[in-house]
Amino acid sequence: MAVLGIETSCDETAAALVTADGRILADIVRSQIEAHRPYGGVVPEIAARAHIEYLDGLIARALAEAEADWGDIEAVAATAGPGLIGGLMVGLTTGKALAAALAKPFIAVNHLEAHALSARLGGKVAFPYLLLLVSGGHCQLLIVEDVNSYTRLGTTVDDAVGEAFDKAAKLLGLGYPGGPAIERAARTGDPGAHDLPRPMRGRAGCHFSFSGLKTALVHEVRRQSEGGDLPANRVAGIAASFQAAVGDVLLDRTANAFTEMRARYDYARTLVVAGGVAANETLRARLLGLCEAEGFSLTVPPARLCTDNGVMIAWAGVERLSRGLTDSLEAPPRARWPLDPEAAKAPGAGARE
Ligand code: KG4
Ligand code: ZN
Repeated sequence: MAVLGIETSCDETAAALVTADGRILADIVRSQIEAHRPYGGVVPEIAARAHIEYLDGLIARALAEAEADWGDIEAVAATAGPGLIGGLMVGLTTGKALAAALAKPFIAVNHLEAHALSARLGGKVAFPYLLLLVSGGHCQLLIVEDVNSYTRLGTTVDDAVGEAFDKAAKLLGLGYPGGPAIERAARTGDPGAHDLPRPMRGRAGCHFSFSGLKTALVHEVRRQSEGGDLPANRVAGIAASFQAAVGDVLLDRTANAFTEMRARYDYARTLVVAGGVAANETLRARLLGLCEAEGFSLTVPPARLCTDNGVMIAWAGVERLSRGLTDSLEAPPRARWPLDPEAAKAPGAGARE
């Protein structure tokens, strides 16, 4: 028996089957990167149409890969938010229809909770733990106390960190998605080559900001290109300097979150990093260095579980089902859906949950 997970909140269409003890029976992700590439970012209308086109076939493939049939599905979990509303409606409606037809429980999954819980697949990480969620849509530090229980320590007041990578790559002519392209370009560049700002560094608390860094980058690129095209040999240095600035900000904010964690718990010393940006090896190495210096252990889910996927949705379904947290077929799609609603109400942060 397994939970079927369906993900359609952004530009990946995904379906997976995961058992109650965390075995992945099927894991199918269809990226729409090619469809969005000409526009340099995700186009909601194109994404929604692509989800409609791909999803049914993906679910059929997931069942085939698992050598399962409909009778093996014990519950259906689908992402209900936060995300692009058109895509969410596709996955949610499909999930509800399947649950109704199979007469099995339905679970409306919060995409952020799925990222948060993905590190527990395989049973290694115990509650509570600190989560740094760094993706194209989010940049947050949260304490994961339990399934359905989160304290948000900080979030971005403007851009998400993956979004900053994507915009920087566009400026440097490196294409989309920007994160992997910047990481590649940065390998041959000097991280100290260009003096870029580190927004929020040294400030109290755990909020993030990246718009000032982006603006500084625009000016730097303009300065370096001297009215013409940016010389290729400068791209690596700028990419490396940008990545270094982002790393400094992430480390500074995470160190403050460690202090907060120590004040609240005398035993919980685990940092989990999740979301697409967690695939960045340089940033991972720097976070590992910070953890070692501060007496925390670091857990990063495997790269394919860091970027959007169906396995994490199915696993969140497993975790919620085991606590009796199922949903009615009335569950709405939600463009915004903060994990910590109280923190999201606070002024000055959280515009994008
Ligand atoms: O979690 P994800 O797949 O989708 C969202 O929920 O947003 O994250 C995608 C984001 C993109 O902004 C992409 O540029 C970034 O993660 N990303 C990276 C790397 N790989 C993906 N950023 C930095 N370095 C990478 N290696
Ligand atoms: Zn995501």
